[in-house]
Amino acid sequence: MKVLMINGSRREKGCTYTALSVVAEALAKEGIDSEICFIGKRAVDGSLDELVKELVEKTKSADGFIFASPVYYASPSGEIQVVLDRLFYNPKAELRLKPAASIASARRAGTTATFDVLNKYATITEMPIVSSNYWNMVHGTKPEDVYEDKEGVETLQVLGRNMAWLIKSIEAGKKAGIKTPEPMKKERTNFIR
Ligand SMILES: Cc1cc2nc3c(=O)[nH]c(=O)nc-3n(C[C@H](O)[C@H](O)[C@H](O)COP(=O)(O)O)c2cc1C
Repeated sequence: MKVLMINGSRREKGCTYTALSVVAEALAKEGIDSEICFIGKRAVDGSLDELVKELVEKTKSADGFIFASPVYYASPSGEIQVVLDRLFYNPKAELRLKPAASIASARRAGTTATFDVLNKYATITEMPIVSSNYWNMVHGTKPEDVYEDKEGVETLQVLGRNMAWLIKSIEAGKKAGIKTPEPMKKERTNFIR
């Protein structure tokens, strides 16, 4: 079983990566694999289609997802928003009903706004949100700062443990014969024609 993690930072091994590594470690302790996908400049250098195609392929073997971003101007990075806009606009069969969580990494503020934006991709796609004992955020400008944020690190450890528990529970439910609910035909009510 595996969790696909998307690192929406422009820095490959910065604070966002460090935060994801903490979750990866907690998942590994529970026997769950993970892969951190770095978006980098690929969202904005003309290779977005190719990148999203690769991510769509990876979603097929993923049992859970984590969307992580640094806070840029109190929001997720433009890079992760472009990628998630595209990823979630595609046919979503491989995302639907798989657990998801989001993480924000900031020097100081804008974390809960960022967390909200990231969670909304999952909550419009019937993905159960995995939570922790605080909102998933860490603070820092350098990767090592993240480890100084002891509460942030613990939040991510709890998140990893909870994600592992839910993935295993869903698997056990399937084995016990609990059926995955079929998607309902979506009613679209437009107010402006
Ligand atoms: C363009 C830009 C905008 C930023 N805006 C904010 C902000 O609004 N609030 C904040 O606390 N930190 C802000 N930061 C700092 C980063 O969010 C923070 O250092 C984060 O942990 C970096 O993660 P990374 O190392 O994975 O890139 C900004 C950084 C950049 C480069």
